Amino acid sequence: MSATQQTSRINYICMAAALGGLLFGFDTAVISGAENLLKIQFSLDPTMEGWLVSSGLLGCIIGVFTTGILSDKIGRKKTILIAGIMFFLSGVGCAFAPSFTILIISRMLGGVGVGMASVVSPMYIAEFAPASKRGQMIAYYQLAITVGILLAYFSNAFVVAVSKDHISNGVLNWLFSEQSWRAMFLIMCAPSILFLAALFKLPESPRWLVSVNRNDEARNILNTIRTHDDAGKELNEIVNARNKNESSSLFPISKATRIPLLIGIVLAVLQQFSGINAIIYYGPRIFETAGIPSSNALAFQVIIGAINLVFTMIAIKYADKYGRKSLLKYGLSGIILSLMLCGVLFYTNNTQGYLLLVLIMVYIACFAFSLGPVTWIIINEIFPTNIRVKAVSLCTLALWVAVWMVGQFFPWLLEKAGAAITFWAFAVFSIFNLIFSLTVVKETNGKTLEEMNEVFISPH
Ligand code: BGC
Repeated sequence: MSATQQTSRINYICMAAALGGLLFGFDTAVISGAENLLKIQFSLDPTMEGWLVSSGLLGCIIGVFTTGILSDKIGRKKTILIAGIMFFLSGVGCAFAPSFTILIISRMLGGVGVGMASVVSPMYIAEFAPASKRGQMIAYYQLAITVGILLAYFSNAFVVAVSKDHISNGVLNWLFSEQSWRAMFLIMCAPSILFLAALFKLPESPRWLVSVNRNDEARNILNTIRTHDDAGKELNEIVNARNKNESSSLFPISKATRIPLLIGIVLAVLQQFSGINAIIYYGPRIFETAGIPSSNALAFQVIIGAINLVFTMIAIKYADKYGRKSLLKYGLSGIILSLMLCGVLFYTNNTQGYLLLVLIMVYIACFAFSLGPVTWIIINEIFPTNIRVKAVSLCTLALWVAVWMVGQFFPWLLEKAGAAITFWAFAVFSIFNLIFSLTVVKETNGKTLEEMNEVFISPH
């Protein structure tokens, strides 16, 4: 294979796997448009409404656990395929759900897909990417999440627009007009099919193949994405690392993994405690609190979504050039400053005007080029192969529990303590994150996955 063919192959592999992020973003955002319609149709009381949101998260947790076991047993590729099937089933199940219970079960299936994809997609990319481009390639995954969120807003808006017309076809009228929330979910089947189709051509991860003693297959795959010499060298490194790690069967706490586990879990939790999802999903409500009418909710969400997407490109470009820690340093500083100032605006009752909107945009931009992608990059690159899935699952689980906590406590905090305190609370967590990132997180830029052990055992 020529160098150009190898580059396009590796790009294809990483982008196809990153589509898991797109479905993750779509699935988590689609509910924002469907929620109100469902509330009316099923006369939901607060408990049932709670179920609607938490069923997805419960599914995520199940998905993360399952992946922790499955992905070592049956391989990365089959696990990603199962995640894709879950997304598809969830889209169909929600769209044609004959009852609220079936809808909840179908949402849960989608959640399982999100949970699985959030572990296995970035990990698969990390296992394929060359060390010099790993940051960029995992950042594709974050980019795909932002595209998925934006697509869901557009597709919801499209369905709302279509729902105003009467459609002559009975079934289509039922799906798109009479009960338009069904169409919002059904549309998710399109990216799911694309994802599944793209996955069939993916090879198995060479690192997993070596872990199950299928070294020849691993060599063949490496030969299609690296030069002959590099493939040989990389295979040797992977085999040596496996032989070294085999004896350390303790899960996953050992001298070499204590620090990476601490880093992965703390970064995952603090990513969420920066308030990102509160601002993305409750944005319109924050604006209402500020006296700006929520009738423009969609326009607001689209602006935020677009900024989120565009600024992720910075991480794609610079994560490998300037390193993960630099991005975290500048991004977190911007996040802290914008959150503090938002708090001040609310505290001094100066929320009318554009300053609040500008500060929120600055916040999103800073998140998009730092905390968003870098958290995923670091979680997926710091663990040795023999414990990678379990350790990544543990960190991702911590992230989802933190998503749940913010979802539970944010509306309560906003109501009881007010917006100023809420923003300042997110800022304080981000200050902890900045200190932690500067002092405990180690630079992993340019190191191969097999060199990570030394990064964390060495005292510097
Ligand atoms: C976070 C998600 C968030 C998304 C926003 C991801 O890195 O894990 O919780 O919704 O970024 O772009």
